[in-house]
Amino acid sequence: VNYIGSKRSLLPSIGPFLDQIRAAAAQPRLLDIFSGTGIVSQFGRMKGFDVVANDLQEYARVTAQALLEDPAPALLAGAAVSDRARVGLDEGVAVWGLLESLIPELEAAVAAEDHPFVEEYVEGGRAERLYLSRLNGLKLAGARDLIEDMLRDGRVTADTHDLLVAGLLEGIDRVANTASVYGAYLKKVKKSAQNPFRVAVPRVFPGLPAGRALRGDANETVRALTRAGESFSLMYVDPPYNSRLYASNYHLLETIARWDLADFTPRGKTGLRPREEGTSDYCSKRGVRAVVLDLLTEAPAEAVLFSYSDEGLLPHDDLVQVMLEAGFRDPQTTAVDYKRFRADKDSENRVYSGDDVVEYLIYARR
Ligand SMILES: C[S@@+](CC[C@H](N)C(=O)[O-])C[C@H]1O[C@@H](n2cnc3c(N)ncnc32)[C@H](O)[C@@H]1O
Repeated sequence: VNYIGSKRSLLPSIGPFLDQIRAAAAQPRLLDIFSGTGIVSQFGRMKGFDVVANDLQEYARVTAQALLEDPAPALLAGAAVSDRARVGLDEGVAVWGLLESLIPELEAAVAAEDHPFVEEYVEGGRAERLYLSRLNGLKLAGARDLIEDMLRDGRVTADTHDLLVAGLLEGIDRVANTASVYGAYLKKVKKSAQNPFRVAVPRVFPGLPAGRALRGDANETVRALTRAGESFSLMYVDPPYNSRLYASNYHLLETIARWDLADFTPRGKTGLRPREEGTSDYCSKRGVRAVVLDLLTEAPAEAVLFSYSDEGLLPHDDLVQVMLEAGFRDPQTTAVDYKRFRADKDSENRVYSGDDVVEYLIYARR
C-alpha cells in the first residue's frame, strides 16, 4: 500500500540505530508505537529484535500482525514457496500450503447483490459510491464474509484470519478506484480498477521469533505495556505530523479490516466512519505537545528514535525540549531528505511548494 508517511525509503537511515542497539543488548526489543504499514517493525524483526507494533487503525494492526507472525506449522505443512509471483508484500516467502486451498476459495466467493458493503461503496450500489467496480466489489464482500465464516467455524486460527485479511487488503489496493489514498473515490471507474480482484499471497518469515501487533492509542498502549511489566531497548516514534487524520484518508481500509458495517451508517458523500473515531491529538496544534510529552515520559524504553518532519505541528526545537523534559538525555538529530508524498502524478498545471521535505530522526537515551 502506498501509505502516507511510510518509512520504507527511510530504512537505510534507521538501520544503523537498530544495529547499534542490537550490538549492545542481549535481547533487543523494539516498540514501534505508530506502526502504519509495519515496515519498520518488519525491518526490526529481520535485524533480530523482538517486536511489538501498535497503531490506532485496525488495518494497520492486521498488516503488521501478518508481517510479524511465525506461521503455525500447520499453515506451512506441504507448503511450497510460490513460483506464481502474484501481488504480495515484498521479501519473505509467499507460502501456499493451507493457503493454497483457502485463497482460491476466497477468490471464488461472490456476495449477494444487496450486500450492505456493495450498496454503500460499490459501483451500482444504492449510495452511488464508486470505490470498487461492481464485479470486484461483489467479490471483495464475498471473500471478506467468507474469512469471518472460516474463523467462526474454526477452519482458520485468529493468526491465519489476520494473514488472509492482510492479503485481501493488499489485493484491494491494486484495484481500488481511488487516487492512492482511500478518502474518496474517482468519478469514473478507472482502467486498473477493472482488473480482476485477487487476494495477495501473504509473505511470511518462517524461523524468526514471532512479534505482536496491537491496536490502540499510543499513549494508552504505552501505559498498558508498562503495567504489564514490559520493557524495550528502543521505542520508535513516527506519529502523524499534520492535521490530516489517517482515519479519514483510509476509512475504507478500516471498514474492510473491521468488517463492522452493521454497527454504523456511513457519513456523507464519501461514506466516512463515525466522527468520534480515529481522532488523534498528534494531529492537533493545541494538543500535540502535551501528548508527546506524556508518551515519552511514560515510555517503557531505554532509548527513543523519533521521526518527524520540518513541516510538523511541533517545531524541531520544541520537540527536543520535550524529550529533555521527559527524561531523555542529549538528543541527537539526523536530517534526511525525503520525497513529499503525492497522491497523484505530477502534472504541469499543478504547483508544488517545494519538492523535498526534510524528515529528521532524533535519537536519545534515558
Ligand atoms: C506516519 S504514520 C506511520 C508510518 C509507519 N512508520 C510506516 O513506515 O508505515 C503514522 C501512524 O500513526 C497512526 N496514529 C495516529 N494517531 C495515533 C495514536 N493516537 N495512537 C496510535 N497510532 C496513531 C496512524 O494510523 C498512522 O498509521
